[in-house]
Amino acid sequence: MKTLISNIKQLLLTDESPQRFVAGADMAQLSTLNDAYLIIDDDKITDYGKMSELSEANFDKTIDASDSLVMPAFCDPHTHIVFPETREIEYIDKIKGLSYEEIAKRGGGILNSARKIIEKSEDDLYESAMQRLNEIASYGTGAVEIKSGYGLTTEGELKMLRVIKRLKEDSPLTIKANFLGAHAVPPEYKQNQGKYVDLIINEMIPAVAKENLADYIDVFCDRGFFTVEETERILEAGAKYELVPKIHANELDYSGGIQTGVKHNALSVDHLEYTGDEEIAVLKDSATMPTLLPGASFFLELIYAPARKMIIAGLPIAMASDFNPGSSPSGNMQFILSLGSIKYRLLPEESINAITHNAAYAMGVENELGTITRGKKANLIITKNIPNYEFLPYYYGANKVKQTIIEGKTIVNNEKNH
Ligand code: NIG
Ligand code: FE
Repeated sequence: MKTLISNIKQLLLTDESPQRFVAGADMAQLSTLNDAYLIIDDDKITDYGKMSELSEANFDKTIDASDSLVMPAFCDPHTHIVFPETREIEYIDKIKGLSYEEIAKRGGGILNSARKIIEKSEDDLYESAMQRLNEIASYGTGAVEIKSGYGLTTEGELKMLRVIKRLKEDSPLTIKANFLGAHAVPPEYKQNQGKYVDLIINEMIPAVAKENLADYIDVFCDRGFFTVEETERILEAGAKYELVPKIHANELDYSGGIQTGVKHNALSVDHLEYTGDEEIAVLKDSATMPTLLPGASFFLELIYAPARKMIIAGLPIAMASDFNPGSSPSGNMQFILSLGSIKYRLLPEESINAITHNAAYAMGVENELGTITRGKKANLIITKNIPNYEFLPYYYGANKVKQTIIEGKTIVNNEKNH
């Protein structure tokens, strides 16, 4: 099956031999091609170029994109998309002034979700998560990392990861699974947190590895959750099973999480609201992607990660939605793109690189996704009729995506019924 996308007003992120990620000043570079074509053969991008140089003529299907920009579909490298129920009632407490940590201390937050998960069957969790996957695809996401972490028992965590495995098999989106047994301490271990860490190490990790259910391992390494020492023990246990860390760090304090992540060769350290000079120095020249979650800062009214400072220091940054019922109940990456520009003051080019090229790296799929490159998977967005790419972060809140193509197939067409 050969598809031609013709007359593309502007093709974004063309890159013949992409770096693994873009960092520092390079984040403001975005290569583009005006009046372009792109050819998809089955699931791959096989060619692109200027319309005037198109030589082939035989295609099974042609999509005219004269009013549209075409770009790689977004990668969302940090989500908790499998969850039992939304938590809008708890959110009222937040409106009334309670902090995320205060809600957590009262047994709300993650523990609230962990209680609910017991009542839900794997089928229930699968159905609701699949709906959310369809929703994020309609906003242009083509790849997503999904964490466990609302089970907090061996059975509960395995249940979540089995659901993620089914989603991987059935959804067209590219999915990576992250084991987050160390998301919160269950109440029965409150007086003996070390015992819960032992359970993660001795029971959960071997069970997860035995069923081959996770690509990555995560720990919420932060004030009031898991310490640096506990995080290290867990990451070392994961490393025995080749589970690469992608961890929550420095959301609530200078927790040492960033240093711990880099020390253990984390693929990414995520959140990073509390990042100072020391943390930046440690990240510099490491292969760990700083992944920022502006949706959580926005929703919880936390401070924002010092994105500009990080870029000036030469670091790369990726952004993710953190889609979850407590701190970021939205998986709309176009909104994340806008928050990147509105709140971090990222240039449109920097914001776009952070949710495509660098986000692909942060979930370990940079060889197949994130740029328009011959041989990469055809995970693409065709936009509605918009004037230019600067419009994407600027015109916030609206869905600017017309079509989402995943592995060569149009899975979303937002204008079909118009
Ligand atoms: O990334 N920070 C820790 N975990 C999630 C929140 C999960 C929840 O509240 O349900 C986060 O923000
Ligand atoms: Fe998270």
